[in-house]
Amino acid sequence: MFHYRKYILHCDSLPLPTLVEKYGTPLYLYSSETLRARYGVFQGAFKGTRHSVCYSVKANSNLSLMKLLARFGAGFDVVSGGELHRVSKAARGRLKQTVFSGVGKTQAEIDAALRASILLFNVESEGELELLAARATKLRRKARVAFRVNPDVPAETHPYISTGLREHKFGVAIADASRLYRQAARSKHIEVAGVSVHIGSQITDVAPFRATMERVAELVLELRQAGHDITYVDAGGGLGIDYEQQEGISEPIETFKRRASEYAKAVLEPLQGLNVHLLLEPGRALVAPAGVLVTRLLYRKQNGAKQFLITDAAMNDLLRPALYGAQHGIVPVTRDPGRSRETFDVVGPICETGDFLARDRVLTDAEPGELLALLDVGAYGMALASNYNTRPRAAEVLVEGRRAKLVRRRETFSDLLAPEG
Ligand code: LLP
Repeated sequence: MFHYRKYILHCDSLPLPTLVEKYGTPLYLYSSETLRARYGVFQGAFKGTRHSVCYSVKANSNLSLMKLLARFGAGFDVVSGGELHRVSKAARGRLKQTVFSGVGKTQAEIDAALRASILLFNVESEGELELLAARATKLRRKARVAFRVNPDVPAETHPYISTGLREHKFGVAIADASRLYRQAARSKHIEVAGVSVHIGSQITDVAPFRATMERVAELVLELRQAGHDITYVDAGGGLGIDYEQQEGISEPIETFKRRASEYAKAVLEPLQGLNVHLLLEPGRALVAPAGVLVTRLLYRKQNGAKQFLITDAAMNDLLRPALYGAQHGIVPVTRDPGRSRETFDVVGPICETGDFLARDRVLTDAEPGELLALLDVGAYGMALASNYNTRPRAAEVLVEGRRAKLVRRRETFSDLLAPEG
């Protein structure tokens, strides 16, 4: 886990300055101990219920992290042919524990998923059902299907990551569900198997999950009465984490235990007596606190009343502050208790005013050359990184016990230019 020992930030048992010496900055650094602990807590919260954890690959699709999660027992939730390909590379055996979500599956993606014999297609429209039925017939495969229903439940989160309202592009209206299930059941190559939902991301109040599952439970009963064999309920992902740690690094595991068990209760209670196999698609809750982004301070400068810390990490490395106004903790890699605290904007070298990692943030004073760590970036950090301004993407290192493993090397300029011939 991330912690200070003698004023120096460590990842599991390794000091960050030593890792930076070897791998450079900006650097994504992951703690396998944190990942293991959080997976254990999440999975433990559903003990006693038939369930599978299908880790949402989009949160962090690094192959080594996926392998580690597969070793813990996870299946996967994918939303593209690319993510499906990653599952087949990281843990081929887990394709049968993989669900495929997304509003715009292409024919090529559908074919690949049919050939891979995945567990479940979460179908999001009538058009997709028709294409899936046609392709399954053509390839002589059977597609197990759930419809992703839109429960019309508001979830308090950033509007860009809320998905469960009627006006969003996701899922099919519950009111249309019985007609669509009837239509699906008519195809010999479709096996109607479940109901699926996902209402959004970074949801910290569990009430919307409960409200959603109440609607899902009603639908399961109704569909069973109509003769459909509903085995699976896919509750989606969305459980949030606490990004605003006052003390220490990241959410303590005890806090997560409490939240995971509240979440499990909210999901399970409405489903009581239905005897379904529950599928869960957590992303952030498992991986966010398992990662930090280490960056070196390049310059300090003052423009008017503003003090800027200019770092070698930018919005192309971590987009969340610019895109969602996300507030990631920022701590010095080497702590000096004598330092004062001041208000800074932390910005990167990219030519955009939106290129900031923090705004008007009270931080411990820092000098050029020193290292800072951005916290809770294991989810949607590297996954959202780009090459904007022709910046090579950062390296990723996974710490396992006393060993650090480079799990994605830093990109080079030739990597960036390669597709252009
Ligand atoms: N299942 C489905 C169908 C999803 O769309 C998502 C996330 C998940 C599971 C996993 O959700 P999680 O447990 O990680 O909340 N880029 C944004 C988050 C976008 C989430 C998209 N869907 C961010 O950085 O906050």
